[in-house]
Amino acid sequence: MKESELIISRIRKSIGVDTANLHEPLFDGNELYNLKECIDSSFVSSVGKFVDKFENKLTEFTGSKFVVAVVNGTSALHIALVYSGIEPNDEILIPTFSFVATANAVRYCNAIPHFVDIEERTLGLCPKRINDYLIEIGIIKNNVLVNKYTQRPIRAIIPMHCFGHPVDMEGIIDIAKRFNLIVIEDAAESLGSFIKGRHTGTFGNLGILSFNGNKIITTGGGGAILINNENDFKKIKHLTSTAKLYHKWEFSHDQVGYNYRMPNLNAALGCAQLDSLPRFLKQKRNLYNNYKESFSDLNFVSLFSEKENFQSNYWLNALILNPGFQHLKEDILAETNGIGIMTRPVWNLLHTLPMYKDFPKMNLDISQDLFERVINIPSSAGLIHGNN
Ligand SMILES: Cc1ncc(COP(=O)(O)O)c(C=O)c1O
Repeated sequence: MKESELIISRIRKSIGVDTANLHEPLFDGNELYNLKECIDSSFVSSVGKFVDKFENKLTEFTGSKFVVAVVNGTSALHIALVYSGIEPNDEILIPTFSFVATANAVRYCNAIPHFVDIEERTLGLCPKRINDYLIEIGIIKNNVLVNKYTQRPIRAIIPMHCFGHPVDMEGIIDIAKRFNLIVIEDAAESLGSFIKGRHTGTFGNLGILSFNGNKIITTGGGGAILINNENDFKKIKHLTSTAKLYHKWEFSHDQVGYNYRMPNLNAALGCAQLDSLPRFLKQKRNLYNNYKESFSDLNFVSLFSEKENFQSNYWLNALILNPGFQHLKEDILAETNGIGIMTRPVWNLLHTLPMYKDFPKMNLDISQDLFERVINIPSSAGLIHGNN
C-alpha cells in the first residue's frame, strides 16, 4: 500500500467513518434554549446577563482572575497590545508558525512583527534559541531592550499555543524577565490546555482566547482577554465598550474606545458550549488516543503528543512526517482531501506572506522544516464519544 493509503486507512480506523471535516462545532447541549431565552429577553447586543455569565464561567474554568469577552480573538489581541502601551515602531517577537491574526494585531498598532523560531517538542516558541538570539542582537538601554541593528525597542513577546499544545511558558517568562519584555499569550487555540495544572493564557501579562467556529468551543465569533488584576480588568472592559461613561441617560466617552464587547447573543451560545467543554475535552483526548494507537506501526510519520506535565486540549491533531519523508506531504493532502477526509498543511509561514516578508526575523529553520512536515487531521469532538 502506498503511504497516503496507509494514512487514509489509519484515519478511518480511528474515527470509525469514511469521511470527515477538519473541525466542526458540536451543538448538543443547551444552545437553542439559551439562544431563545436571549432573543426573548430582547438583550441581544453588548449588554445582558449571558455576557456576564460567560465571563464568570470562563474565569472559573481558566482560573484567570478576570475575563473580558470580546467580538473575536483578533480584537482581543489588538486590545491586549493597545492596553500594554505598544507604540508605532515597537518590535514585537512573534512566531512565524502562527495564524495571520497574531501578526495583523501587531500591525494594527503600527508596531513591527519580529519573527522568531519554534521548537519541535511543543510547536511553540523556543526559549533557548530566542534567548541566544536576543543576546546577539539586543542591548539594554534605560531598561528597554533595543535591537542593535534597527535601533527600535523590542517591547513584547507573543507565545502562541499551537493547535492547543502549550508552549514552554516557564522558559518564555524567564526570557521576559531577563530582557524586560511584556508577555501576551495567544491562547486562541488552547482553551482547556494546562501546564502543571495552570491554564494557558494566565502566565503572561495578558492572555487571549478565540471562540471562532473552528475552535474547541464557539460563540459564532468571539474572543476573550484573560487578566490578572482588577485595575487592568476595569480599564480593559471600558476600552472594549467604546469607553462609555456610565450614566442612566447621558452618552459620553472619555477616550478613543473600541466597539469590541461580545454581544449577548454570542455569549448565550458560549454559556451552553462552556457547559459541554469538559466532555469535549474527553472526546478529543479519546480521539487522540485512537490516532496514537492506529499510527503507531507506521515508520514514516508520528502523531504529535503533549509534553510531560503539559496537558493539551488536542484541539487539532497533527501528524508529523518523520525527517526524510517530507516529500509525501502533497500526495497525502491531495489523496485525503480527494476522498472527503479533510486534512490541511500548516499556515504559510507569516514571514513569507507579501505584507510581512520585509520585517526582521531570526533564523527560522525549525519553522521551515516543520512547515514541510506537519499535516492536521480531522479532530472534531463529535467524531468520538467521551465516556470511556
Ligand atoms: C493562533 C491564533 N491567533 C488568533 C486567532 C484569531 O482569532 P479569531 O479568529 O477569533 O479572530 C486565531 C484563530 O482564529 C488563532 O488560531
